[in-house]
Amino acid sequence: MNNTELIEKLNKEKSLDRDEWVRLFETFIPEDRKFAADTARDISVSAFGREIYIRGIVEFSNICRNDCLYCGIRRSNRNASRYRLTAEEILQSCDEGYSLGFRTFVLQSGEDGYYTTEKMSEIVRSIKNAHPDCAVTLSLGEMEYSDYAALKAAGADRYLLRHETAHKEHYGRLHPAEMSWEHRMKCLRDLKSLGYQTGAGIMVGSPYQTAECLAEDMLFFAEFKPHMIGIGPFIPHKETPFKDFPAGSYELTLFMLSLCRIMLPEVLLPATTALGTVNPRGREEGVLAGANVIMPNLSPLAVRKKYMLYDNKICTGDESAQCRHCLEERMKSIGYEIATDRGDWRKRSE
Ligand code: 5AD
Ligand code: FES
Repeated sequence: MNNTELIEKLNKEKSLDRDEWVRLFETFIPEDRKFAADTARDISVSAFGREIYIRGIVEFSNICRNDCLYCGIRRSNRNASRYRLTAEEILQSCDEGYSLGFRTFVLQSGEDGYYTTEKMSEIVRSIKNAHPDCAVTLSLGEMEYSDYAALKAAGADRYLLRHETAHKEHYGRLHPAEMSWEHRMKCLRDLKSLGYQTGAGIMVGSPYQTAECLAEDMLFFAEFKPHMIGIGPFIPHKETPFKDFPAGSYELTLFMLSLCRIMLPEVLLPATTALGTVNPRGREEGVLAGANVIMPNLSPLAVRKKYMLYDNKICTGDESAQCRHCLEERMKSIGYEIATDRGDWRKRSE
């Protein structure tokens, strides 16, 4: 089977074998990417129309107990200037987002023990109270089942936790020994079983990633069926052990987005900030390759430059209102528009 036939098979059967994935990742050419992007775009237009969901991210703390080797806010980075937003500041950012038309707020932070499950539950309750028509998404890293359950009970709707790589040995090379791939995967299963709309995801081109790793990721997506998939290129951060590794391939990231869309037609798939960082048209081309979500920053301007997971992150000098307007224009330029509803995952007719 040639690559076009493999992509057609994926579209029909919604899965490929491990060997087929590996072969596809090892041999794809620009024509294959184009074919995948065209197929993926048709699928997202029939599932979602030319409407793009927006999620406002509030990056409320860059303090982290973890030491992931790729990440700029890892605890070993002594040069990161650390901050925490208060509950009031978080709520203010959401209020500002609400007036800009956001109906999903993503609360993201490092794994910061200061925000206990009780404190976070209170914050979630106050946001849901102020904006009952909005969805709250959490992205707080690994926790225990009981914590996820409490946050769900407080009103959280969705949770983002990238698995980073479905290949256990590869996971071990990206993370310190005290972190466990099994626990990461358990968290994802817990979240799904608690009824969260659950997001997994990876960095494309992370150090030591091979075609086999990407094949495992696709097999994992096929089996776990996340509601959301976050995929962006790895980008080195100058104060991490991975500072001298090259950034992940822009083209391969777009290809991965298309393959995810073809395999899981209804998945919520962002064109990520990292994709927009490696290419000025990254978010537009991400949408044209099958993405249907954009997640601009809603954090207060004063802290934006401090939430640097990787170098040169875009939009760190722009007000939320500027980004909102900028995205509107960018989507218009490719014939899409921004949707103003919550954009929950649901079964759609294909
Ligand atoms: N490059 C790209 N993405 C990164 N992330 C963390 N560090 C980097 C980096 N250097 C991603 C991880 C994490 C998400 C919040 O950001 O996949 O799950
Ligand atoms: Fe932030 Fe364009 S989206 S400036």
